Formats: sequence, structure tokens, C-alpha cells
Amino acid sequence: MYEAAGACEDVSSDFADAVRAGLSQPQKIIPARYFYDEAGSILFESITRLPEYYPTRTETAILTEHAGAIAALVGPGRAVIEYGSGSSAKTPLLLTPLQAAAYVPVDISGEFLGQSAAALGALFPALPILPVVADFTQRFRLPAGVAGLPRLGFFPGSTLGNLAPMAAIDLLRGFAALLGPGSWLVIGLDLAPGSGKSVATLEAAYDDAAGVTAAFNLNQLTRINRELGGTVRIADFAHRAVWNAALGRIEMHLVAVQDTAFTAAGETFSLVAGETIHTENSYKWTLPESRLMARASGWVPTTAWTDSDQRFAVHLWQHDAGAMQP
Ligand code: AVI
Repeated sequence: MYEAAGACEDVSSDFADAVRAGLSQPQKIIPARYFYDEAGSILFESITRLPEYYPTRTETAILTEHAGAIAALVGPGRAVIEYGSGSSAKTPLLLTPLQAAAYVPVDISGEFLGQSAAALGALFPALPILPVVADFTQRFRLPAGVAGLPRLGFFPGSTLGNLAPMAAIDLLRGFAALLGPGSWLVIGLDLAPGSGKSVATLEAAYDDAAGVTAAFNLNQLTRINRELGGTVRIADFAHRAVWNAALGRIEMHLVAVQDTAFTAAGETFSLVAGETIHTENSYKWTLPESRLMARASGWVPTTAWTDSDQRFAVHLWQHDAGAMQP
């Protein structure tokens, strides 16, 4: 059962303001949220199938193996709220064992959401599917159809890693407030390099041999040229992905391979050879760091499942009723 899309407005672009502000800083930046225009979204889907990009297939394997255990712990009849549902590719792994009472996919792209909700509706004809078009990093309301149902949040893909630590904590607190007492959260978080995963494995996942991640990164510049009247010479830039051990994150940059200058959004910018535009952070956590993050944001970490190579973890957290008391 697929009902018409929900409560929130479409999110408008402030790309020009973000580019003007970001390229005027000493360390130039373009916020990572602007990766996902049509071309960028297609490139990201390709990234998830790359041999080097282990997170997607590893998380899928963990969910496949342990969905039954998750269902046994949380019990049947919950409304499943998926944050950043995209194509909802991993959702069917959970919905059946969970015997979900409703499914609420939340995504910023209304078109994408409509297509994936319809596809899922064909797979689960008796399940109420109540899509919400929203930027889940902002406040939004759940559909009336889930009132009174116990809830389970689903936040796969290590998407949390693209937020700075304080923003990540704020988001998780927001999930706890929205899902409420008695809720659970299933969250996929990429593991920091250590005993199981080398820095080389991690860096290769963000700098693949076929150059798909490079194309994804460079697409930010193509987008500036197309949407902001930019004059960027794309060949003046190269993709770089590097593990920042002190900050616990993979960083993606666009490096100027020679001195270069361009106009965009009505302003002129220049870079000397070797200077970079910082385009993305992808934070990685050890298991103890993940547990600490749960506790700091209104959740009790209960169980975590990892693959045998210790690359990725799927966590089950329970709403911390005590955190809401004086
Ligand atoms: C969407 N996000 C979780 C991806 C990540 O791994 O941080 C984005 C990505 N960037 C380059 N490759 C994938």
C-alpha cells in the first residue's frame, strides 16, 4: 500500500552562496551536500558497486546475516523510519523479519522517493508505505499514520560519517526525540582502520582504480560551470583522498595541479599549484567510539555486528529513557 508523499516542502538550492562563501575561505571548501545533483547521484550509485568501496556490500551482508537477530531483539509491529532512504535498497532485508507495521522512507529527493516507494509497494503490497520528502538533518514531522505505533529508525550506509562530530550528535539526539521512548535505532557505521582494516584499504575505497570517485569529486566543478556560469578548467584539478588519523576521517580534496583562476557565481577565485578545495569528510569510528557517541546522544548501545574482516559495523541502539529525565 503506497500513499501520496508527505508533509514537507522541497529543499531549494543555495549552491551559489555556498560556493562564494566556501571558496573565499583560507582553506577553500565546497560542502559535500552539493555532490548529489543528477550526475552526482548516478556516480554515487556506481561507487557503491565498486570493488574497492566495501561499505555497501559489507553492510548488506551483515544485515542479511543478522536481520533475524535484530527482529528478535526489537519485536514485531514497529513503524520503520528510514533516514535518507534513497533507493531503499537495504530496506527489504529488515522489513520481512521485523514484521513491520508501516514503513516511512525519508529523503530530500521527492522523485527518487516516489519511485523507490512504488517499487517497495510492489514487493510489500500489504505494508503501509508513508514517504516523507524532507532533509532529515532539519526538523520534520512523522506522518499521522504512525501515531501510536512503536518505532524503529534505520540509518544505514555510514551516512552519519559525512557530518562533523557535533552535528552528528545533534542529529542522533534529534532522532531520539522524534522516535521517542521505546524506540530503537539500527545504524550502519564504517569502522576506523586498525586491527582489521588498513589505511590503504580505506583510501582505495575513496580513490578507486576506475576513477569513479574522482569523477564524483570533479563533478562539483562541472556543476559550478553549468549552474553558476563558472569558467573552471577541470583539467587544472585532480582528485585526492587521504586518511586524517588525528581527526579520524577520510578527507576528499580537489587539488590544483597548476596555478589556476576562474570565475563562478559572479566572483573570481584563484589557487596556486598544490592548493586544495576540501569537498568531503567521511568519519570512521572504533566500536568504543561508537558506543560513546550513542550514549552522548540519547541512545543505549546494545549490540553491534561486524564482518569477519572488521571493516564495517551495524549497531542496534535503544532509546535511553533515562536521558530524558532531570
Ligand atoms: C554517502 N557517504 C556515506 C559516502 C561516504 O562513504 O562517505 C559518500 C562517498 N564519498 C566518496 N565515496 C562515497
